[in-house]
Amino acid sequence: MSPVRSPLVVRGAIRVPGDKSMSHRALILAAMTNGSTRIRDILVSADVYATAGALRAMGVDMPALSADFVVHGRGLSSFHSPESALDCGNSGTTTRLLAGLVAGLEGRVARFEGDASLSRRPMGRVAVPLREMGARIEFERPDRHDSLPMRVTGGALTAITCENTQASAQVKGAVLLAALASGAGVTVREPYRSRDHTERMLTARGVHLIVTADGVTMPPAQRLAAVDVEVPADPSSATFLVALAALATAGVLRLEQVCLNPTRTGAFEVLERMGVRIDREEVRTVGGEPIGTLVVSPAALCATSIGGADIPRCIDELPILACVAACAVGETWITGAGELRVKESDRIRSVVDNLRQLGVEVHELPDGMRITGTQAALTGHVLTHGDHRIAMAFGVLAAMPDNRITIDDPGCVSVSYPTFWRDLAAAVDHTAVDRTAGDRNAGDRNAGRPSPLVIAIDGPAASGKSSTAQWVAQQLNVHHVDSGAFYRALTLVALESQVLPDQWTPDEVMALAPRITWRLTDRSVLPLVDGHVRDDAMRDTPVTRHVSRVAQMAAVRHWVNEQVRSAGSATDVVVDGRDIGTAVFPTAALKVFLVADPWERARRRLIQRLGRRPNDPEIAEETEALVARDALDAAQSAPARDAITIDTTTVTQEEQVERIVALARAARERRQGP
Ligand code: DC
Repeated sequence: MSPVRSPLVVRGAIRVPGDKSMSHRALILAAMTNGSTRIRDILVSADVYATAGALRAMGVDMPALSADFVVHGRGLSSFHSPESALDCGNSGTTTRLLAGLVAGLEGRVARFEGDASLSRRPMGRVAVPLREMGARIEFERPDRHDSLPMRVTGGALTAITCENTQASAQVKGAVLLAALASGAGVTVREPYRSRDHTERMLTARGVHLIVTADGVTMPPAQRLAAVDVEVPADPSSATFLVALAALATAGVLRLEQVCLNPTRTGAFEVLERMGVRIDREEVRTVGGEPIGTLVVSPAALCATSIGGADIPRCIDELPILACVAACAVGETWITGAGELRVKESDRIRSVVDNLRQLGVEVHELPDGMRITGTQAALTGHVLTHGDHRIAMAFGVLAAMPDNRITIDDPGCVSVSYPTFWRDLAAAVDHTAVDRTAGDRNAGDRNAGRPSPLVIAIDGPAASGKSSTAQWVAQQLNVHHVDSGAFYRALTLVALESQVLPDQWTPDEVMALAPRITWRLTDRSVLPLVDGHVRDDAMRDTPVTRHVSRVAQMAAVRHWVNEQVRSAGSATDVVVDGRDIGTAVFPTAALKVFLVADPWERARRRLIQRLGRRPNDPEIAEETEALVARDALDAAQSAPARDAITIDTTTVTQEEQVERIVALARAARERRQGP
């Protein structure tokens, strides 16, 4: 007899962020066009930042990414060779598409670099056809013949017929962009049709393409017309929430404005084969792409077989499909998916290892896996290997109330779906879940609870909020988030950039934001700069002197708030800052505002800094500096109306921690109900 599952009820309507494939292409095509392109609802994520940054480095006048902006393209002649290497971060699409573009720009040279994961991925698949067309592609590592760093020298290209043995939209896109940039004609053939956004977007811009069953031909000498873009919601991102709804016990979830391009809907069809009901409503065509609302309801799930022509249509969704299969009745086979081994991680190995250690029976195949579904609760710690889709796939399993799953690096979702944890929590009807939560171990972290606990501790500089928050988090056995550390990390990279502080603009500072990520340690959410802990430099005087200016930039505040919310949706947190209870988590379970006399704050700060008792003139000088900083930070430092203000001037830190912990425990009990 199968065990009775605790209820998981989904509800509401969510528009997941813009499609990643189309976002990259929208930027590149807008930059190549002579004319202005308005882009709406682009995906603002680390991968897309990488493309925008690379285009800027080649001379494109690319504004900061936002929900609605205009690119004033100046055509191909405006592209120059970048002065330094193009940093593609974690993004394979950025690398491969831009390699194609540079290959077609005669006389331009660009060096491509990426993070450790991207530097392991094969680039030979684009190098081969681009070389055949006449570009020069060199790989610099003697030990690996086709991985980054890669140097591309553009040439006068000639027409070729490119016979791809694998269906790859990135290779097809690279070859088409190379041909378009150089004015050559080209034919690309593939065994199965890969996603066809490049073809659709080129056609919408007046490029003549002949699309056949096995490929696409572009005649020579094509011109691009400027066409505005509305980026629909990403079906790959939507699949995680479709899967959540499929795994729920009740409710209905609506996913709005999802791209329903038939080369992208393979995962929805696989889930329908497994028994999920997915209704498509309000279907219409926007910018040459079908879009619509998906209405998903839970189902009794049965196993299926995924292979052959399914694979290119659901390659990015295979990790979440595997996680769904782990909860379905029967044995699911995934075959013909060897490509998964060269994604952001070896996704066959990552999925198999993680499912196995959660207690699922899985058999690894060279090109896939065999999964035996189970109705048992799953318990364990997931290693993402920094791979966003692994984090999200297992995040869905972690949201099921009986499972006890922790995830090592929830922050890596920023590559493609920065608001994932928030959307996942929003899709769950917590009132339904929390009514059943009474028997849970209140000390467990991140374990099967879709609605994490948030305690907000705000206050002015040196009010002791960070050390208090750290201590409170430790007592409650939850994670500490120091929101100021995100402002400090961004200020640090800005100080290390070429631009002088008095010339910093929000656009320039925000262009550096993708270099800041975060990861969960045992105790805290730790901001990283280029993947490294830089705590000492972040606390140093130059950063302290300039951070207020950075913290006043609206775009920066928006970005930090997103990072902090994302962390607070992934796990239980105590967050300290200035506006946590007002702007970041207005519905926090407990809000505390710490105040203290400026003289006392100055005295405490100096003891910390000097390691001795300061004298009165020293305290007077520090008090003046603190009051000046209070004034700079005043706009964002008001207490929430429902905050509990604690004056710490005359209490010890121990006493104030004790008081907040008691308030937090009471708040937690209130949430969990009788
Ligand atoms: O708390 P701290 O000194 O580390 O904060 C660094 C800066 O960031 C400071 O100027 C205040 C600002 N900040 C903010 O504006 N909002 C927050 N939530 C946290 C910090």
